[in-house]
Amino acid sequence: MTAGRITLGTMVRDAGRVLALGLVIIVLGGFDGSDTAGAADVAPALPFTAPAKHMGVSSCAGSTCHGSITPWPGSTVRQDEFVVWLNKDPHAQAYKTLLSERSKRIAKNLGLDNAYDAKICLDCHADNVAPDRQADGFQMADGVGCESCHGGAENWLGTHTSNKSNHAANIKLGLYPTDDAMARAKLCLSCHFGDTNRTITHRIMGAGHPRLSFELDTFTATEPPHFTVDANYRQRKSAPDHIKLWVTGQMMAVDALLGAMTDPNRNHDGIFPELVYFDCHACHHPMSEKRWEPRASAGIGPGVPRIADANMIMLGTFLDQFDPSVAVEFHARVKALHQASLKGPAATTAAAEALKSLTEGLAPRVADMKMTRPQMRSLLMAVIDKGTRGEYADYAAAEQATMALSAILDAMKSASALAPDQYKMLTGTLNKCYTAVEKDEAYDPRQFMAALQDVEAVIPKT
Ligand code: HEC
Ligand code: HEC
Ligand code: HEC
Ligand code: HEC
Repeated sequence: MTAGRITLGTMVRDAGRVLALGLVIIVLGGFDGSDTAGAADVAPALPFTAPAKHMGVSSCAGSTCHGSITPWPGSTVRQDEFVVWLNKDPHAQAYKTLLSERSKRIAKNLGLDNAYDAKICLDCHADNVAPDRQADGFQMADGVGCESCHGGAENWLGTHTSNKSNHAANIKLGLYPTDDAMARAKLCLSCHFGDTNRTITHRIMGAGHPRLSFELDTFTATEPPHFTVDANYRQRKSAPDHIKLWVTGQMMAVDALLGAMTDPNRNHDGIFPELVYFDCHACHHPMSEKRWEPRASAGIGPGVPRIADANMIMLGTFLDQFDPSVAVEFHARVKALHQASLKGPAATTAAAEALKSLTEGLAPRVADMKMTRPQMRSLLMAVIDKGTRGEYADYAAAEQATMALSAILDAMKSASALAPDQYKMLTGTLNKCYTAVEKDEAYDPRQFMAALQDVEAVIPKT
């Protein structure tokens, strides 16, 4: 079954969504269920920093291991993961990208000899662990390989295939828990936003690097996945639904941004704040185009760079439904952050810390949440409603809202809250939103608002 979901940036419309949606085990209880999927507080070290040696993609790629041409019938895992990765996953090309003309230009502009052996580039475009953690079969040219996400296999490669082994045992031996929503979000964002070890800056953007944007559920779907969530999978692992992945991704993205803004090593560049944490299009658009609009949630006037708050807008929309009293506090602290940016660095750091402490407290509750079908529907309406009230005046917010709507529709479909024809109608209409965010520089908020209204019009009444 394909959904009209595309990767923003490269615009592959109707990327096949192969996440198994057949078997639906979503408990329709209250908003706060009691599923113990999350392990937020014991998040293990990322594969990049954990001590284990990385054995190299070749050690996973055997035809009876993960290198089968087609999925193995009856096997626990598909076993064609390597082939999916090699042929379809952009991570397999991440190192090759560093050899491109575009990378040459970026490197030249930054005064680097070349991109393909610059640490700053390799850290995100390959599995650039320290040389003493690279085993014999390891090859940098494999790009973002299996162990970049699943962790160095030194201690579990030999045992993970034994029938005595299981997921928990593998994790003890250093397998990274990519099935856990929090852990996955932290992992992906470490490269798709950056962290203390891997930092992207406005200087790198200025040299020609594309703008980064990320949404966990959409990016999991478009990578594409090399795993199948079926009954057997659910028995072995946690299988967060689309909305949980979406919210967790938003929460962790807000956390990552606030972490960067409060980090003295990352939050400024000379006398300027680090511009990569501001809305790119607040500065980058033609002067002839008068497009500033007031936004209630920010409460700052024209002519000021805005902190990149697209993920905050999304998280706030979720909180309005999830916990209205926390939401009130959240909106107040977001607004205080925007306003602090007009006062100075110390005020901004303090406001960012205050917001961060609020969002950190949410993690365990989000990990445990369950949503009913009516709650999913009101979340869908809320995301649309935000837009018709002018909150998606900035491109990045519209882009996030579009991906959010995809995630919510997919969750509703999985929970049988939408019949197949309703789902088809809605995702078909949602393509108008995708069209409206196709080119950031041509973004027209009115076109986007009209597309949202069209989506709203085809939402079933009950
Ligand atoms: C080690 C760094 C790293 C990690 C970890 C990582 N990525 Fe990526 N990802 C990249 C790089 C680099 C690219 C760009 C590849 C290229 O085109 O050269 C990319 C590209 C992508 C793309 C294609 C984006 C587009 O616009 O076409 C998707 C989708 C994606 N990643 C999803 C994920 C998901 C989901 C996770 C977490 C499970 C993740 N990535 C973890 C580095 C990483
Ligand atoms: C913090 C991690 C990070 C760092 C550091 C980084 N990149 Fe990237 N890069 C990414 C991600 C993630 C993408 C994919 C963006 C997307 O499509 O969403 C990407 C995309 C690109 C692309 C576009 C690829 C395509 O398929 O169009 C080029 C070119 C590139 N990077 C070159 C570089 C170079 C050269 C450096 C070093 C100066 C570098 N990158 C440093 C994470 C990083
Ligand atoms: C960008 C991150 C990323 C890369 C690179 C990556 N994986 Fe995965 N992989 C995931 C995620 C996310 C999942 C789903 C969560 C889970 O099952 O742990 C997953 C799941 C799996 C599973 C579990 C399937 C199941 O049913 O339990 C296997 C096996 C696997 N990957 C093998 C590989 C192999 C082999 C490679 C390299 C050829 C690879 N992965 C590369 C992120 C990645
Ligand atoms: C506060 C304003 C501001 C923000 C926010 C901002 N930039 Fe810039 N950007 C600038 C300035 C100033 C320059 C330098 C222009 C020049 O050299 O002519 C620049 C240059 C660039 C260039 C190089 C353009 C060229 O002419 O070669 C790129 C690309 C770029 N920025 C991308 C981004 C991205 C992506 C973001 C968001 C992550 C962003 N910028 C956020 C002000 C900003």
